[in-house]
Amino acid sequence: MSSTETMRAGPFKVKVEDVPIPTIESPNDVIVKVTTAAICGSDLHMYEGRTGAQAGITFGHENMGVVETVGEGVTLLSKGDRVVMPFNVADGRCTNCFKGKTAFCTGVNPGFAGGAYGYVAMGPYRGGQAQYIRVPFADFNALKLPPGTENEADFILLADIFPTGWHGVSLSGFQPGETIAVWGAGPVGLMAAYSSVLRGASKVFVVDRVPERLAAAEKIGAIPIDFSKGSAVDQILEKNGGMVDRTVDAVGYQAVDTGGKTEQPNIVLEDMIKATRPCGGLGIPGLYVPTDPGAPDENSAKGRISLSFGKLFEKGLSLATGQCNVKQYNVQLRDLIIAGKAKPSFVVSHEIGIEDAEVAYDKFDKRIEGYTKVLIHPNGPL
Ligand SMILES: NC(=O)c1ccc[n+]([C@@H]2O[C@H](COP(=O)([O-])OP(=O)(O)OC[C@H]3O[C@@H](n4cnc5c(N)ncnc54)[C@H](O)[C@@H]3O)[C@@H](O)[C@H]2O)c1
Ligand SMILES: [Zn+2]
Repeated sequence: MSSTETMRAGPFKVKVEDVPIPTIESPNDVIVKVTTAAICGSDLHMYEGRTGAQAGITFGHENMGVVETVGEGVTLLSKGDRVVMPFNVADGRCTNCFKGKTAFCTGVNPGFAGGAYGYVAMGPYRGGQAQYIRVPFADFNALKLPPGTENEADFILLADIFPTGWHGVSLSGFQPGETIAVWGAGPVGLMAAYSSVLRGASKVFVVDRVPERLAAAEKIGAIPIDFSKGSAVDQILEKNGGMVDRTVDAVGYQAVDTGGKTEQPNIVLEDMIKATRPCGGLGIPGLYVPTDPGAPDENSAKGRISLSFGKLFEKGLSLATGQCNVKQYNVQLRDLIIAGKAKPSFVVSHEIGIEDAEVAYDKFDKRIEGYTKVLIHPNGPL
């Protein structure tokens, strides 16, 4: 028996290959037959060769499916359970896990805080863009879902982007009734905007330059800001009648300038410092890396991002960043979906079989033809 997987084959290349089905390696493992795995903007960093991923790595940190085999130490899961896994692999028994900081688990990835499936530097965990995936510490890492196939496109977003968007808003210190501006209308930015709407923001601005993405933001009640038409900050200040309470960076280190071609890794953070009111807050779920061979200048290649820190100090701004502790949020967000109060699947643009992954990576990377969030069904349509 084999499992078909989406693997990195080199810069801007993925291939789909058959490999042996994963097996139970520890009594705490389960093997999940994957019904849906999503492609993430973070996969593109590896696809493009920006984060030093080796060829042969299996992609896929946003995974859900049905439990197929249960290790003998697992007590909360049974064969046939429908589950979604946080992208974080965590052991549930280190100090950070005890405190809910599962993205910084110290027990799953020696020399590094945090583990993930199918991700460079995040430990030896194969990705789930595959027919089967091994889930370690499964009682802790698998969230049970109602059986069946209902809301599949909503539940898969619990693996990463819905909690990550929600987390970005929390990192900014947001309170109901406040105004907030989100940079980036990719899947994470749209989820941050959607979370702000759900959490009672008085006004939500979303900055991007891709028309379909701005249209999606407008559809959920946010105010689109097109930064190809001029300074995002000026547009926000004018439309809001002043600075906003909170800002979220859902772009990360590959931010581009107004012209849309030149990377400027500090441009979003600089905009946020300008657009946030004194004593407001910046939430930064957007990814920054310690080394980046493709960076536009020597400093940012070493992960040194230049910031107007003096301005940040003068305004008394607070700032928080880091990977999302998915487990901190996924139960409440699952229950919002089950109750019909949240439907994050509006971001899903394409659903494909695994054989079409190569084309999907290419188009998603070029951000063409409306490719925003791609769901792969590795075992065929549901
Ligand atoms: N913290 C976490 O746990 C976590 C989890 C998932 C993803 N991420 C990171 O979040 C970021 C967003 O992910 P995504 O999948 O939505 O990515 P994406 O690449 O699909 O979206 C980024 C968007 O930013 C826009 N953009 C570029 N420059 C801009 C600028 N100057 N101003 C405003 N918008 C600009 C792009 O047009 C694009 O639409 C990435 O850095 C990703 O790695 C972090
Ligand atoms: Zn992701």
